[in-house]
Order: sequence, then C-alpha cells, then structure tokens
Amino acid sequence: MENRRPLIAGNWKMFKTCSEAVETTRRLLTLLEKNVDTDVMIAPPFTALAAVANIAKGSLISVGAQNLFWEKEGAYTGEISAPMIASAGCKYVIIGHSERRRYFGDTDQTVNRKIAAAIQNDLIPIFCVGESEKERESKETFSVLDKQVKKGLENFSSNDLKTLVIAYEPVWAIGTGKTATRIQAQEAHAFLRSKLVKCFGNKLAKSIRILYGGSVKPNNISELMAMPDVDGALVGGASLDAETFRKIIDFQT
Ligand code: 13P
Repeated sequence: MENRRPLIAGNWKMFKTCSEAVETTRRLLTLLEKNVDTDVMIAPPFTALAAVANIAKGSLISVGAQNLFWEKEGAYTGEISAPMIASAGCKYVIIGHSERRRYFGDTDQTVNRKIAAAIQNDLIPIFCVGESEKERESKETFSVLDKQVKKGLENFSSNDLKTLVIAYEPVWAIGTGKTATRIQAQEAHAFLRSKLVKCFGNKLAKSIRILYGGSVKPNNISELMAMPDVDGALVGGASLDAETFRKIIDFQT
C-alpha cells in the first residue's frame, strides 16, 4: 500500500434518523478510542450531518456527505451545496455513487462538476466508479472504468486532485452479499491506478487512495486490505452497526 494511509468509510445511505445517527456515532466513538492507524469516515444522511459532526469534532471520526449540488446557492429546491456541507462540519463528500447514477440521473458530466465544487470548498471527494454485472459479463469492466475516470476527472490538474479518493464499487457487489474476490478488486484497482499514472503522473497516482466497496464485511476486509492497491473500503450495510463497523476498522492484514 506504499505510504497511503488506509481509509475506512461508512456510507449510511438513507438510513437513520438524526437521533439514531447520533447514537451510533457516540457508540462508535467509545469503541474507537485506541484506533490511530486508519482514517475513519461516516456519511450519515444530510439531516444528521451537523449533529454528528458536532459530537465527532476533534475525534478520530471524520464526517462526509453522500452527495452535493455544484452551485453555491440559488433557487434549486431540495439541493445542498458544497459550502453548506463544509459548514455543517464535513471533511468528505461521496460523489457519483452508483445509486445516484441509477436513480437520480447523475452522469459522468455532472459528477465532474460535483467533484469541482467539492475541491473548491476544500472537501475531499470520494469519487465512485464501477461496472454493472452486464458490463462485467461482456468484458467491458476496464473500458467502463476508463470512461468514468476520463470524464469524471476531465479538466482537473494534478494539483486539484491532491486529496482525491476513488472508490471502486462494482454495482453487482453492492448490497448483494457478492463481494468481488480480492483478485478482481486488485485487478480493477491496479487498472485505475495505471489510468491515473497516464493522466496525472506517477507521483499523484501513487498517493491517491483507492477504496473497495461492495458487500464489505468483518470477514472479508482483511483479505481485501492485503492487496497492494486496495487502500481502504467504502462500506454500506455493515457500517450501520457500530460494533460491526469497528471490526472492519480494526482489520488486520
Ligand atoms: P454494501 O456494503 O451494503 O454492499 O454497500 C456498498 C456501498 O454502496 C457503499 O457505498
């Protein structure tokens, strides 16, 4: 993993009311006292961001949003901007998750604008990419990843992307219990890193953390983390329970 600091991130999706999110965060804080080697992030729903960020302040847990809209402010009913997310106490923002691409119309182009807004507001983007089952079966995995990275990161300089995190989330592995094998994950991560080398040079490519996401559980995290290009995980279902998530954070390679 070279010198990349592992990041274990929990995407809570549309789960937990504000008080439930606060309760889970408090529980996690008590469980994580001794953890110092891994960065930890949780992404609750928008309604709980400020409350969770408030109790996590100064702790090992960073907070992230699950999406943003690229305009700073304006008549965009229902949307949340990057400055709003930053002012709620967030450090990260997940962008281009496959559920957003599938249900809410996110495209490579809108993802590109969202990443730009995150960077301009000093939020660390967690940029999600990944192929569908059909695309994998028809051997299009690498071409899909190639296009998502090319378009999603179009017009950025390597300086813009200093903090970027990429999450490889094969759509067929999300919420299905079907994890990519460590070989499949490593293959995709190595491909993504080689693409980053080509576009932005070796130095940046070697520093960007690439997380794996898709049915990560306490019993498969260690083998995934043992792979050289897997720098962390973006965890859905198994991040909702503090004890289970702690077991993932405490992975041993
Ligand atoms: P699961 O861990 O529930 O498969 O979800 C993965 C995911 O989509 C994280 O963003």
